[in-house]
Amino acid sequence: MPILIKGKELAQELRETLGKRIEKTKSQTGSAPGLAVIQVGSDPASSIYVRNKQKACQACGIKSYGYELPEEVSQAELMELIDTLNQDAKVNGILCQLPLPDHLDEFAVTQAILPEKDVDGFHAVNIGLLSMGRDCLVPCTPAGILAMLKAYDIPLKGQRCVIIGRSNIVGKPVVQLMLKEHATVTIAHSRTRDLPGLCRNADILISAIGKARFVSPEYVKPGAVVIDVGINRDDAGKVVGDVDFTSVASIASAITPVPGGVGPMTIAMLLENTFQAYLKQNNVSEE
Ligand code: GUN
Repeated sequence: MPILIKGKELAQELRETLGKRIEKTKSQTGSAPGLAVIQVGSDPASSIYVRNKQKACQACGIKSYGYELPEEVSQAELMELIDTLNQDAKVNGILCQLPLPDHLDEFAVTQAILPEKDVDGFHAVNIGLLSMGRDCLVPCTPAGILAMLKAYDIPLKGQRCVIIGRSNIVGKPVVQLMLKEHATVTIAHSRTRDLPGLCRNADILISAIGKARFVSPEYVKPGAVVIDVGINRDDAGKVVGDVDFTSVASIASAITPVPGGVGPMTIAMLLENTFQAYLKQNNVSEE
């Protein structure tokens, strides 16, 4: 059996440590970090994610401010809320859960959030800084993937890393983080020629495509590390990843499960980003 990369356990440890760090800072400053979470409409999956994010905030001493807006909210109303939150000193981080309904301009919304409050790391300023290898708010799922690889002492320098999926949220920022770690990075997608052959070059294979059990052993070099970002439902309604776990686990050296792998790490990184935003906005540092 390969090493099972237990994101859920690691995320729990990180959250407990973060809770203590926040408590300590609070005792010095007398204030708490705050995160505003905006949800438009009532998509059931988004509702679950938003609730989990808010619960996680409360558990580690971050104040969460929830905004549930109706499906029909106008672009102007949403922009006005973001403007108000941008100016609210209690709010250190602002997150607008995606996807948004079709009539809303997702790009305009993510770019309206002040870069210093952009705890999702979706603002062009943060993406630009990330691509230059500078300090910034890093998108949570990519940050969580890197934290897991490091926690499990998986070598990155000089390793060949293939990422399947070119999204702005996962694929592209993962490239920047892995490059900074001196990995050799290739990004693959639905139009890539001989996808299985390309993936078989990878020492580290990261899948973020959203297709249930798509990655079979044909895509995996024996001994590779496999990171599964997918959260999909199979025909029976079971939550599964992009990777066909059982067959791939028999040849990988390490693998993340779904659920309990990357997902919980994403939330842990959101909490960390919110704390970092709070520290910076209040010009305080941890002792
Ligand atoms: N929808 C799916 N993943 C995310 C995320 O990381 N942040 C936000 N805001 N929306 C999402």
